Amino acid sequence: MGRLSRSFHPREVSRLWHEAAMRAPLLCVVALAACASTAPAGRKDSVNDPIVQSGHPVLRQRAADVPPEEIRTPEFQALVARMVAAMRAAPGVGLAAPQLGVPKRVFVVEDPAALQASLTPVERSERERAPLPLRVLVNPTVTPVGDEKVTFWEGCLSVSGYSALVARFREVEVSALDEHGAPFTWRVRGWPARILQHESDHLDGTLYVDRMVSRSFGTTPQVKARFGGQPIAAALEAFAAPR
Ligand code: CO
Repeated sequence: MGRLSRSFHPREVSRLWHEAAMRAPLLCVVALAACASTAPAGRKDSVNDPIVQSGHPVLRQRAADVPPEEIRTPEFQALVARMVAAMRAAPGVGLAAPQLGVPKRVFVVEDPAALQASLTPVERSERERAPLPLRVLVNPTVTPVGDEKVTFWEGCLSVSGYSALVARFREVEVSALDEHGAPFTWRVRGWPARILQHESDHLDGTLYVDRMVSRSFGTTPQVKARFGGQPIAAALEAFAAPR
């Protein structure tokens, strides 16, 4: 985790972006060129963008649609690179543009195996949490598949230090534009479906605290001390949360 939580020099942000491109072939040459030419020049220090915290109005407004022709511009590609760098530095499994103070409808997701290492096998399987490669979603629409919901602990980089139980649809289908501006549809189940619903909410000015089982809200250390490693049933029972 230490490796993931340190700050990156702009050149290293560029390197990370290139590495991501190597792992995820969907990232295009345009993205690489844009990143190499603009991201380092636009940064004056080695500190990642601060993540906007709850209370700032940018987290409570509807973000604007991104004109498809904007996606391939160096400025937009640099924004995506900054989002990926900030998500990894936090570390988090998703980040929406409003969390960097930019009210545009785009988010990034990535859930590498390293972030799941601290979960017990029970926690991993209950959550249906599996490694998720880096993806960029522009103008996404998330639609539930079926009506089954599952309740788990959730946190947000913009509500730093806290966790709560949140019910989410178990399976969703998302339609979006990728970082080339190409449309795609993706159907996901389990933890990735939760990530998509959480990030999509950010684009509509919604935070998980609007959806949480409010009595379960606590500092993450408190939640971990009381419920860490236990089946989720213990927490659902403690807070009479929906199953
Ligand atoms: Co969030």
